[in-house]
Amino acid sequence: MRIDVVSIFPTIFDALEVSLLGKARQTGLLDVRVHDLRDYTHDRHRTVDDTPYGGGAGMVMKPEPWGLALDDIAQDAAEPPVIVFPSPAGERFTQKIARELSHEDHLVFGCGRYEGIDERVFDYAAGLGRVRLLSLGDYVLNGGEVAVMAMVEAIGRLIPGVVGNPESLVEESHEDGLLEYPSFTKPASWRGRDVPPVLLSGNHGAVATWRREQQIERTRERRPDLLPD
Ligand code: ADE
Repeated sequence: MRIDVVSIFPTIFDALEVSLLGKARQTGLLDVRVHDLRDYTHDRHRTVDDTPYGGGAGMVMKPEPWGLALDDIAQDAAEPPVIVFPSPAGERFTQKIARELSHEDHLVFGCGRYEGIDERVFDYAAGLGRVRLLSLGDYVLNGGEVAVMAMVEAIGRLIPGVVGNPESLVEESHEDGLLEYPSFTKPASWRGRDVPPVLLSGNHGAVATWRREQQIERTRERRPDLLPD
């Protein structure tokens, strides 16, 4: 999969060089290209923002550098990419969306800062690919970079071969609409706390039933919104 990221803080994405995603880049499963939005400006100060029409607080990202950056990326793309703009005003990013996006060949992430990006950029981008505005959650970050890091990790680990043991992806929180069951390892007793006896029983059926019950119980307690009525 090819991933292009446009940001005014490209070094934030250096973190994608480590761990499983770093390895996936080395083996060629992931081709991540990070672009500095300021490279697409033409003034001495490499300006990417300006005051909002209609007044109001903060600054808005200018459309021109975005247009040039997106043209540059689209120009050597084999197929129209999916273009994601992280935004607290977007659709909620979920495991389902992560899985959908993990099947794409090419994703482009545009990281906004300040009060956001000039709205016309989204319309222009829709002529180059399929645009999605995605929110990490109902809170506001200073910009899209941290959200994109989270999305790239959630999507990247679903690409076959990125996570060594694909079975570890199956029983995770959100994969079947429920939270994950609790996990334990040795020792069987630690600081007065015992591992639930069923896990030591060797009875696979009983273990599976217990884990399912735990999933439902946890989801009811912590995330009742995930359960069907
Ligand atoms: N940018 C700022 N806040 C955000 C959020 N909650 N999700 C995605 N992008 C953002």
